[in-house]
Amino acid sequence: MAEKVLEVKNLRISFRTNSGTVKAVRGISFDLYKGRTLAIVGESGSGKSVTSKAILGILANNKIVEDGQIIFDGKDLLKIDEETFTHIRGVKISMIFQDPLSSLNPIMKVGKQLTEAMYLKAKASKREAHAAISKLNSVLARYGDKTTMQLLHKTVSGMTKQDEIIVLDGFIDLFRQACEGSLSYQDEALRNLKTLVEEFKNKHFTSEESLDVKLAKQDLAKLKKPLKNAVYPLDIEPDDIIEVFMVLMTTLLTKFVNAGKHTEERQKLLEKYQANDVFDLPPEIRSKEREVILPPSAYFAQMVKAIDELLNHIDELLNTDKSLDTFVDEFKHTYYENIIQSKTTMTSKEAKDRAIELMTEVGIPDPERRFYQYPFEFSGGMRQRIVIAIALSSNPEVLICDEPTTALDVTIQAQILELINKLKVQKNLSIIFITHDLGVVANMADDIAVMYAGKIVEYGSVYDVFYDPRHPYTWALLGSMPDLDTKEKLDAIPGTPPNMLLPPRGDAFADRNKYALKMDYEAQPKFYEISPTHYAATWLLDERAPDVEAPKIVVERIKNAIKVNKDTIPTYTLKKNSILERLGGNK
Ligand SMILES: Nc1ncnc2c1ncn2[C@@H]1O[C@H](COP(=O)(O)OP(=O)(O)O)[C@@H](O)[C@H]1O
Ligand SMILES: [Mg+2]
Repeated sequence: MAEKVLEVKNLRISFRTNSGTVKAVRGISFDLYKGRTLAIVGESGSGKSVTSKAILGILANNKIVEDGQIIFDGKDLLKIDEETFTHIRGVKISMIFQDPLSSLNPIMKVGKQLTEAMYLKAKASKREAHAAISKLNSVLARYGDKTTMQLLHKTVSGMTKQDEIIVLDGFIDLFRQACEGSLSYQDEALRNLKTLVEEFKNKHFTSEESLDVKLAKQDLAKLKKPLKNAVYPLDIEPDDIIEVFMVLMTTLLTKFVNAGKHTEERQKLLEKYQANDVFDLPPEIRSKEREVILPPSAYFAQMVKAIDELLNHIDELLNTDKSLDTFVDEFKHTYYENIIQSKTTMTSKEAKDRAIELMTEVGIPDPERRFYQYPFEFSGGMRQRIVIAIALSSNPEVLICDEPTTALDVTIQAQILELINKLKVQKNLSIIFITHDLGVVANMADDIAVMYAGKIVEYGSVYDVFYDPRHPYTWALLGSMPDLDTKEKLDAIPGTPPNMLLPPRGDAFADRNKYALKMDYEAQPKFYEISPTHYAATWLLDERAPDVEAPKIVVERIKNAIKVNKDTIPTYTLKKNSILERLGGNK
């Protein structure tokens, strides 16, 4: 299984406008894997660009980030500060847009634009290295390793490159020693913490009757310091665990006390509804009178659970086999490599050579001459190649392509797509490829997310979506795709997407969907799992829904495509009840 490089979770983005709040992206989730292309496909206005801009942190000022997380490199891009973001944006995550002119400076020679981008990357690495240093310094300061710290400072403050490499090599060893110290220190601290938490539990939580809240609160406060000491310095966010546990316990202790004061009211409620215990009360009363109805024992149980969870967590930390080698590898990754990168200052000759190399890689003929030309001297396709070269100059891990070929002629379009595919393989890039044209992605995508009205309505592998589409909107997109062989007339999707100021209550596609059920106008369908790789949000997948066949044109196309491609379609696509199975399989 490929490594997950980017994870979008329940992203919700709206925009403030004079006419109200535009709900542009309404709770989407997807994963991007190393070396794979995820295509996001949908009509204009479905929220594709807003999604990509959110990842890059370049949303317009009237945005409202309502909810969600964008996890990259262990950080939530929606939460990190501007400073950290500039290390990521355009460096680790690069983007190419529909209009190459908008990303090029019209009055700067393309060669200079390329080398500028490289200097920018060098600067970013330097900043990142410095951030890593201060992080490491604080760890080492905690464990009192002065020598390593001093060496660290020397390493970064002006040495000749030769010396530096020697120092860095030796430094790795010293670092290893420092880590050994801190790792065993941590184990000890964790064991100590475990004992303290167990003592805390045994002293106060053996029975509800013997719990002295005041004493428990005092002892709880005493746990704070050992808790802080015990969490691993480099790999988790200690504050979360400490804060959550402390706040939870304090709140529960207070609620426990309050619950004791409501005994009479609780008794009255039980009598009024002739209930034996609180769980027999009508649900609406239970939710309305929450504070009153829960007896102290419920809070007591919750506290015991919280303590047990913490103990489990400590055990997990004690048992994680986070070997020193992994630790050193991580350090090398974020620190050592960045130091070398930032120290290896490029001469202008080196920068030019690298730029010409990049121009060659993206297929620009005669790069030595082209280096000195302005963007207007390039054709649309060649301009897009320059934009791609600039995007690649920082060696990004993720490349976001937002309709990169929409403005180009069909033949040029095919060449650019081929180039992106080639670079993906050569550089093991992870790509988010955005387009309104499903036809474009058949040969590009590994995974496809079909977007409609700010939501993902179908999500699956390229085979799932092309050979076993389940959402009527995906059917409509497939049906409106011009057939390259037959050039047959396309069925344009009737109607227009909904107004995102007031998205419909039910399925947003219902008004345009001739397969719409009554349910579609009433509620939004959940995401039904068709297989572990394939999901669709349509009521048609509900067990109560009538059996509906995909439109003729789509079925015909699948049949034809199977005929042509039967050897390349993976067998797993042949799922139970799939269109493929109904057609007799892919054998
Ligand atoms: N800054 C903004 N202010 C108000 N509405 C916006 C803004 N940016 C995007 N939108 C709206 O968000 C929705 C999604 O837009 P977008 O992501 O650009 O669509 P597409 O899928 O075509 O890329 C559209 O309804 C668009 O009008
Ligand atoms: Mg767009």
